[in-house]
Amino acid sequence: MILMSVLDKKHIIVAVTGSIAAYKSADLVRQLGTLGAEVRVVMTRGACEFITPMTFQALTGNPVHIDLLDSSAEASMGHIELARWADTILIAPASANTLARLAAGMADDLLTTLCLATSAPLAIAPAMNRLMWQNEATQSNVARLQRRGYNCLGPASGEQACGEVGAGRMLEPAELVDGLSRLLTAASAMKGIKLMVTAGPTYEDIDPVRYIGNRSSGKMGYAVAAAAAHLGADVTLVSGPVALAPPPGVQCKKVRSARDMQRCVLSHIADVDIFIAAAAVADFRPTTFSEQKIKKGESEQLLTLTANPDILRTVADQVDGPFTVGFAAETQAVEQYARSKLVDKKLDMICANRVGGTEGGFESDKNALDLYWQGGGEALPMGKKTLLAEQLLVAVMRRYQYKIKPSN
Ligand SMILES: Cc1cc2nc3c(=O)[nH]c(=O)nc-3n(C[C@H](O)[C@H](O)[C@H](O)COP(=O)(O)O)c2cc1C
Repeated sequence: MILMSVLDKKHIIVAVTGSIAAYKSADLVRQLGTLGAEVRVVMTRGACEFITPMTFQALTGNPVHIDLLDSSAEASMGHIELARWADTILIAPASANTLARLAAGMADDLLTTLCLATSAPLAIAPAMNRLMWQNEATQSNVARLQRRGYNCLGPASGEQACGEVGAGRMLEPAELVDGLSRLLTAASAMKGIKLMVTAGPTYEDIDPVRYIGNRSSGKMGYAVAAAAAHLGADVTLVSGPVALAPPPGVQCKKVRSARDMQRCVLSHIADVDIFIAAAAVADFRPTTFSEQKIKKGESEQLLTLTANPDILRTVADQVDGPFTVGFAAETQAVEQYARSKLVDKKLDMICANRVGGTEGGFESDKNALDLYWQGGGEALPMGKKTLLAEQLLVAVMRRYQYKIKPSN
């Protein structure tokens, strides 16, 4: 029943490559069609040596797409139209060769060009001899693709067509259908959810021209807002001063200081289901604001600071408040500090990131996050903040659903 509702009327491209497992794709295509999906098949030239396009044409009722430079295909459904048409693309089987070409970002056939040209979620179902699978080249290609957002389904272990035993078998069609259903479920997982995310630094003014700020670029919070909107959530982004454009479909409230941010958060927090505090809020502000520019004079100036309100703690303290996620940017003892912040502020989850290193963190497009919650955790490896945001939201939704319905 759940599978039916997820796949029903979905536009799915099954891309078949030159592997002995290509015969299983016929059953995969049939099963997807039975569950209500509209399927189109793309084949590599190699795949056509293993199974005929006629088989897929008969099973889907649609022409099979093989050539990139095909003027008749361009007139009807060329790579760009296919890329736009797809709700998701599953490459099954995915040969070692195609994985390598995708990882290299090539665009010299229909399948690779299509994958570059789409914004639809992509999945691969590797199928190959166990030594080909274990090969460092294949492993690093798959890891590279995963970092770019490709979902890897399988491979399974067991007896192989070549007579060897090990990891490299393509998952069975029913397992692939299940995996794809899960991916698509995640992709619509946030419908009906009200999410608030804070982003960027806060500026604490000293005088009309000077302020205390920090190195937060807002990229992580903006990526979370964009990803949540993409997943169907109703998103409010409360942003400190950054040089980023608000993502489409997001309500963006611009603020400057920690106290502005607190006022804005508290006045819009009612009914929020999930609150993600990605902003780097200044802990302190100058105790007094000088209405006039402070003149250079003395060789030493004393700046007295006052603690700012703790927005995250205030939200987490609310009775029946939202599922609350904090961030901890640390330079050392990351897990220890993050876990103690989790407990101390009564958060539902904390995302720890190491800052001050050579890669990731403030101002960077990349980061790695360690997620912690009471009794568990998950590491999200170094990757683009856009991808990391999606992975974070999947983890948040899992914990959020567990909190509201622990039996799940
Ligand atoms: C009988 C036979 C079976 C093959 N099976 C596989 C396989 O399961 N996985 C794989 O990665 N390559 C396999 N290959 C090698 C690929 O077909 C070859 O690398 C080809 O270039 C793949 O092209 P494509 O990725 O464009 O489809 C096999 C080759 C032969 C001759």
